[in-house]
Amino acid sequence: MRTVDLIEKKRDGGQLTQREIDWLITGYTNDQIPDYQMSAFMMAVYFQDMTDEEITAMTLAMANSGEVIDLSSINGIKVDKHSTGGVGDTTTLILAPLVASVGVPVAKMSGRGLGYTGGTLDKLEAIPGFKIEVPEEEFIRLVNENQVAVIGQSGNLAPADKKLYALRDVTATVNSIPLIASSIMSKKIAAGADAIVLDVTTGDGAFMKNPEDARRLAKTMVRIGKLANRQTMAVISDMSQPLGEAIGNSLEVVEAIETLQGNGPADLVEMCYVLGSQMVVLAKKADTIEQARQMLEESLRSGKAFDKFKEMIASQGGDVSYIEQPEKLLTAQHEIPLVAEVNGVVTKLVANEIGIAAMMLGAGRKTKEDAIDYAVGLKLHKKIGDSVAAGEAILTIYSNTEDVAEVTALLKENIAIGEVGVEPPLIHEMIIE
Ligand code: URA
Ligand code: CA
Repeated sequence: MRTVDLIEKKRDGGQLTQREIDWLITGYTNDQIPDYQMSAFMMAVYFQDMTDEEITAMTLAMANSGEVIDLSSINGIKVDKHSTGGVGDTTTLILAPLVASVGVPVAKMSGRGLGYTGGTLDKLEAIPGFKIEVPEEEFIRLVNENQVAVIGQSGNLAPADKKLYALRDVTATVNSIPLIASSIMSKKIAAGADAIVLDVTTGDGAFMKNPEDARRLAKTMVRIGKLANRQTMAVISDMSQPLGEAIGNSLEVVEAIETLQGNGPADLVEMCYVLGSQMVVLAKKADTIEQARQMLEESLRSGKAFDKFKEMIASQGGDVSYIEQPEKLLTAQHEIPLVAEVNGVVTKLVANEIGIAAMMLGAGRKTKEDAIDYAVGLKLHKKIGDSVAAGEAILTIYSNTEDVAEVTALLKENIAIGEVGVEPPLIHEMIIE
C-alpha cells in the first residue's frame, strides 16, 4: 500500500476500506508515515467527509493504537460519560458518586482541561491529598470495592489520537465531524467502556456553535458506538451560558458538594439527573428512565450519594475535612462583586468569554505548561432570564490579585441587562437510536 494512493482516493471522494484505514493509522502512529502526508489526508477528510464504516474503522484503529484498558474484572456494565466541553461543567464530580450510589460501577478516566477552564482532574486536585495517578490494578480494586474511582488518563491511551490531534491543531482540521467523532470515541473505547453517554454541547461556550452541527456530531458518534458494539446515546445540551453557578476549580468542588447535599443550582441538578438516568438505564440497573431518575433522586435526598462522594475522595487520599467544611477550600484573597448598573433582566452571559475571564484569573491554562490557581474563579448570582436591580451583584470574582480591571472589562462586555431575557433550553435534543 502507498500513502499517496490513499490520499488520492479520499481526495477524489472515494471510500477507504478497513484495511486501508488500519494501515494508515498504524503507520502514522509508528512514525512510518510523515506528518505532511497525514496532513494532506486529514484535509481530504475535512472536505470529503467519511462514511460511518470509515469513521468506525478509524475509531477502532485509534483505540487499538495503544493501551486498551480491560475492565472485565469489574462486575456489571461499565458506563462512561463524556462531555464535548463546556464552561463551569461540574457534572462529572456529581455524577460519578451519584450513579455509583445506586449500584452502577463508575471506572472513570478523565482528562485535564483542553479549553479555558480546568478539567475534572484539575477540580479533583483542588482537594488536598487527592491522588489522580493510580495504577490500573488499584483502579480496578477501588471500583470493585467502592463502585467508583476517577483517575487520570493513562499516558498511552490512544496515542494515535494524541499525535493526530496535535497535527489537526496546526493544520486547520480540528473542526471536522468524522475527525472529532473518531477522536472522542477512540478514547472512550480504549478506556474500557461497555456503554457511553455523550453530552454534546452547543452554543458559544461549546465546540459546536450551532445545534445543527451538534446534532450531526451526536448522531455520528451514536452510530459508530453501535457499530463498535458499545451502546451509545447522546444528549444535546445548551452551552450558551455557563452551567450552574461556579466556574473555577475549588468553587466547582464546593458546588458539587452543595449539589450532592441537595442545594445545587437547578440547571446543574437537572443536567445530572438527565445524564445520570441514561447511565443507570444503559447499565441495566433500571428498566425505564423514570425509574432510574427516582432512584437517583432518592439517593441524593437520603444522603447516600454524598456519602459515596466522601468515600471516593477518602479512598483516593483526599482530605475529607475539606468536603465536610467546604469553606476551607475558598481561600482566594479577594472577593469582588460585579454589580448591575441598571434595573432589568439578564439577557446575555456569553459562556465562552466568561470562561476566558475565569482563565485570566488563573482558573485555567493558557498553555499546557501553565499552573492552575485552584482558589480563583467566578460565582454567578444571576443567570439569563433572572431580574436584577441596579447595585445588585450579578456575580462575585474570586481573585488572588487585587487588580481585576481587565477581567471586569471582559465580563462587562459579555453580560447584558435588558428588558426580556429568555432562558435557553437546557436540553435541545436526545439522540437514542
Ligand atoms: N475533543 C476531543 O477529544 N477530540 C476532538 O477532536 C475534539 C474535541
Ligand atoms: Ca458550574
